[in-house]
Amino acid sequence: MEGLKEAKNNISKKGFLDVEVDPSLDLVAAIEALKKEKNAIILAHYYQESEIQDIADYVGDSLGLAQQAASTEADIIVFAGVHFMAETAKMLNPSKKVLLPDLKAGCSLADSCPAPLFRKFKEKYPDHVVISYINCTAALKTMTDICCTSTNAKQIIDSVPADKKILFAPDKNLGAYLQKTTGRDMVLWNGACMVHEIFSKEKIVKLQIQNPKAKLIAHPECEAHLLEIADHVGSTSSLLRYTQENDAQEFIVATESGIIHQMEKASPNKKFFPAPPNNTCACNECPHMKLNTMEKLYLCMKHDLPEVTLEQEVIDKGRLCIDRMLEISAKAGL
Ligand code: 13P
Ligand code: SF4
Repeated sequence: MEGLKEAKNNISKKGFLDVEVDPSLDLVAAIEALKKEKNAIILAHYYQESEIQDIADYVGDSLGLAQQAASTEADIIVFAGVHFMAETAKMLNPSKKVLLPDLKAGCSLADSCPAPLFRKFKEKYPDHVVISYINCTAALKTMTDICCTSTNAKQIIDSVPADKKILFAPDKNLGAYLQKTTGRDMVLWNGACMVHEIFSKEKIVKLQIQNPKAKLIAHPECEAHLLEIADHVGSTSSLLRYTQENDAQEFIVATESGIIHQMEKASPNKKFFPAPPNNTCACNECPHMKLNTMEKLYLCMKHDLPEVTLEQEVIDKGRLCIDRMLEISAKAGL
């Protein structure tokens, strides 16, 4: 723990303001008060810890979060999610302050596609349309024609004329799944998410045998051998909707376990099993998403730090692919 001045100086090193929070402080009340005082909005992804989801003004998937960021009238956007999400919000709102409770909340999938390497890769396919999953860096977005999320990826791919070739980055699992579902032949970057690649098919099948009525639901960032046996494949919002609309009472959830909070809230009488990972750890949490805590959320709102900033050139180039994505999504009614 440090004094405020020292903590501010160390933000780029530590990623967050490392100052003590009075343990007797009612964090929920304090955060609510800061929201009003600063005209701030908290946007949270489904993978955030439950308490953060409960205090957010909006909880959703990557598309919903980008749409909210594009339409908000708040002066400050507090992003309870990871770095690429906050960067997207900043590109959509260059004049607004975008705060991220911990700047080190990154993404293994975004990290799996460094911009300089991708630039070289892209040079080999000059006639290809570049579609990038939104889980990528701002630098990658500057080299992208259209962005997509797992909710709108099919519509984005379908919007590209059939005679045009497609290069898809960075997630090879989502890319392979989309090749299968859209029938388009695509060049894929070899990236993946550490959370969705860790599930054990063997342990999941055992769990299915023990709970024969449970439906297996999986995010398309999972590997093909898992998606093949899933009863439903979709984005986080699609998985949540499926658990609400399907008559089944039990679900094995193959995505980050934070989403189970919303599933349980929406269907309190249903049972949700986190899909077991391929290691001895009982959890399947995203270590990046879980860097954000209520204390860090409070501190960043109190001191307006850490702030996500981008160079104007990156904003100008990078937002084009996001604008195209939002346009196509709106036309598709998403
Ligand atoms: P969605 O919520 O858009 O399905 O994305 C999942 C994810 O991995 C976010 O990091
Ligand atoms: Fe990135 Fe995977 Fe974490 Fe999502 S769950 S933020 S894709 S590392």
